[in-house]
Amino acid sequence: MQPLAAVGLSWPLILAASVAAALLVAAVILRPFSGGGAKPRRHPAGTLGWPLVGETLAFISAAYSSHPESFVEKRCLRADAEASRAVLQSDAAAFVPWYPRSLMELMGDSSILVLGGALQRRVHGLAGAFLKSPELKARVTADMSSRLAAAMDAWRGRAAGDGVVRVQDEAKSIVFEILVRALIGLEQGQEMNYLRQQFHVFIAGLISLPIKLPGTQLYRSLKAKKRMTCLIQKIIQEKRRIFEGNDLCAASRDLIDILMSNGSDELSLTDELISDNMIDFMIPAEDSVPVLITLAIKYLSECPLALQQLEEENMELKRQKSDAGETLEWTDYMSLTFTQHVITETLRIGNIINGIMRKAVRDVEVKGYDGVIIPKGWCVLVYFRSVHLDAAVYDDPYAFNPWRWKERDMNISSGFFTPFGGGQRLCPGLDMARLQASIFLHHLVTNFRWVAEEDSVVNFPTVRLKRGMPIRVTPKT
Ligand code: HEM
Repeated sequence: MQPLAAVGLSWPLILAASVAAALLVAAVILRPFSGGGAKPRRHPAGTLGWPLVGETLAFISAAYSSHPESFVEKRCLRADAEASRAVLQSDAAAFVPWYPRSLMELMGDSSILVLGGALQRRVHGLAGAFLKSPELKARVTADMSSRLAAAMDAWRGRAAGDGVVRVQDEAKSIVFEILVRALIGLEQGQEMNYLRQQFHVFIAGLISLPIKLPGTQLYRSLKAKKRMTCLIQKIIQEKRRIFEGNDLCAASRDLIDILMSNGSDELSLTDELISDNMIDFMIPAEDSVPVLITLAIKYLSECPLALQQLEEENMELKRQKSDAGETLEWTDYMSLTFTQHVITETLRIGNIINGIMRKAVRDVEVKGYDGVIIPKGWCVLVYFRSVHLDAAVYDDPYAFNPWRWKERDMNISSGFFTPFGGGQRLCPGLDMARLQASIFLHHLVTNFRWVAEEDSVVNFPTVRLKRGMPIRVTPKT
């Protein structure tokens, strides 16, 4: 169900509560207002809550519960994915990205997540073309396979002891290295470890209190960002020195090369813009993709039938390839139909990104909601969870059922399946995320059996497994 409802939320308080978890609830019904035209103009139905705190505490309380969408469900005006589609497809004349202050501060003005207009389209287009290119997919496939082989050797060693592997940590470490290499060309080693360390400090501040004083998390995170920027700008300058006078594009190996060689005339991409964006692009490498992998393994562990079918599909591919004396290509992984259904279903039910935020830059009338106006300055949370878990859209929505995708088209522009957003800001890394998850699952199920230990999903402030998804592995003979 995609609601269009007014709620009063205080973001500083949401951030405070993510640290301190205090609760308080209130509600005030919004009344229609007259906009002066022939048609009556109304705000979305709902309440703004108490002054300052609004309904923040009810929101947080639901977010921490096992049913976070209950907050939105209670405030539904209509069951319709159209509102979410309308906001996602709208341009910068209606809505612009808007995030809590700590996040805006850390990302900076030149981040693709906040940029608008021609510059956003330029960076999005270049990055999207690079991330979808067959050359990069082939390289990532080879890198990831050999990195996984090394990790799995270590897991075999551990199997003699307690055999415990924490999937979330392993996935983070592997995916981060592979994507950072693709983004900035950095190899494993001291600088990679330094970058990873600084990145952990940086990411901890994304959802923190917006106070920039020595000793606060935001302050530490800004310092860590500065150190990462220094490292990345050093890489950029080194590239400029080596490639001076040559065609950088012809030698392109990573995203920095692409961005450096394509900034022209009035849309020139400065070193600062490139380095800021490289840091933003690392967020899915540390967070979204590893969480996708971890959730898939959790859901498979709880659904033996799905695990068995996935295992059969992957064993069959491995057998075919080894009989033909061939190695697996990225196209092989992406053609595993059932494995792709498992990933799609994980994205639907896991809601790794719960939703996205926008701010109205003028009064916006949302199509399908006759006369309802989102007033200028209001923030909109397009809450994907509500649509992905709506019984009117998906039968038995809380059941992990990869087979449902045999019949169903994902149709990402419909508004019913939006784990990667939509419109001009549709995630440029969506294929890359699927590919990396497929490779991880393939190597795991063809090399190991496992028993999952008890763990639970935490949804706030970001989605993750509470204990990091420990599994006890036994190598397959
Ligand atoms: C499971 C993995 C992933 C999920 C669930 C995910 C989800 C999303 C969503 C929902 C958006 C839309 C944000 C908005 O509209 O404000 C987005 C945008 C974006 N994603 Fe992803 N993403 C994933 C993986 C990746 C990867 C692997 C990369 C690249 C390394 C990436 C890079 C980006 C970028 C650069 C944007 C901003 C696009 C723009 O504003 O023009 N994502 N992603």
